[in-house]
Amino acid sequence: MDRVTRPDTATKPAADVSAMFDEVSPRYDLINDVLTAGNDRLWRIATTRAVAPRKGMRILDLAAGTGTSSAALAAHGAHVVAADFSEGMLEEGRRRHAGNPLIEFVHADATDLPFADDSFDAATISYGLRNVSDPRRALAEMARVVKPGGRVVIAEFSTPPSALVRRPYAFYGKHVLPRIAGAINRDAAAAYHYLNESIEAWPDQAELARWMRGAGFERVAHRNLTFGIVALHRGFVGRRAPEPAKTEPAKDDAAKAVAGKPAAEPVAEPGPAAPKSQPDSQSKSASQPKPKSKSASKPKPKPKPKSASQPKSAETAEKSVAKQPAAKQSAAPKSTGSKPASKRPEAKPAASQQPATGSESGDVK
Ligand SMILES: C[S@@+](CC[C@H](N)C(=O)[O-])C[C@H]1O[C@@H](n2cnc3c(N)ncnc32)[C@H](O)[C@@H]1O
Repeated sequence: MDRVTRPDTATKPAADVSAMFDEVSPRYDLINDVLTAGNDRLWRIATTRAVAPRKGMRILDLAAGTGTSSAALAAHGAHVVAADFSEGMLEEGRRRHAGNPLIEFVHADATDLPFADDSFDAATISYGLRNVSDPRRALAEMARVVKPGGRVVIAEFSTPPSALVRRPYAFYGKHVLPRIAGAINRDAAAAYHYLNESIEAWPDQAELARWMRGAGFERVAHRNLTFGIVALHRGFVGRRAPEPAKTEPAKDDAAKAVAGKPAAEPVAEPGPAAPKSQPDSQSKSASQPKPKSKSASKPKPKPKPKSASQPKSAETAEKSVAKQPAAKQSAAPKSTGSKPASKRPEAKPAASQQPATGSESGDVK
């Protein structure tokens, strides 16, 4: 009999999802290898290349589980914060990677990250977003904690475009996968029924790309792996709106500056402030920013590069993407600060996205 929690696929209650992963954590990676016939290793290589980790970078690996994805990033010299809300997965990860000073395991909920704005050079989430109760909120949180210009890479099961692949894959997911998983860990079959249901309920590549743009990511692109069984999505966090032209501060403004507030508020990008312009978005962090305690100390807004509107739809796979230079080591490990309005998702309508092509080079690799 199954003794593993099987979360409701529609609501994915956090307690049930974390309990399920606590229970499967000891054999999680082994089952992955078997169920994917080793393809998970190839998908990880592709994901790591898309993140482009470098020495000195600080990378958030969200829903990191046992840290297998984190280790691949740390192998390139990046400092990786492996965040997850399952204590069982974190414990297994800490045990396995005890000797690796570049991986730091942190208990965190993807929908309410305990990190300061702009505290990472990049973020990634592998096979985790689908399990989050409010994935759009998690996207907004990733946009908040990654520095402007930093990239976010999502690896997730997806929808194979070809029916020739989709049908046998659906059969495998429904009938074969839970049996194999149950044979390896007889308590785990329920978890793998949930895995199949959650994949079936998960939006396709185009919809996830829309969610990413809704969360404020620019140059959103994706690439299918293994016929689209997995898709690799990536986007860049938008740069801030330009600073207004400097003028002599009036007496009132000078007094405000002395009190620790900026003499002039950064100009938000054109577009709706709140409420969100995209009806499909449910991101609460977008409309309920955390206290503005950090805004006074934030760096000055960087000018947003001018660009034409997106010439291709983001549904197009295999777009060219920029290889960003490794950003500087990030600072504050924890705060509740909020992004300026220009970096909040609602301030960046989809129409303002940058083109995915142009002078950029390379694929979502
Ligand atoms: C399928 S595992 C993926 C683990 C790892 N990224 C990998 O590639 O092997 C999904 C992970 O997402 C975590 N997770 C799900 N919802 C989460 C949330 N709201 N916050 C943090 N972690 C979450 C689970 O605890 C689990 O460890």
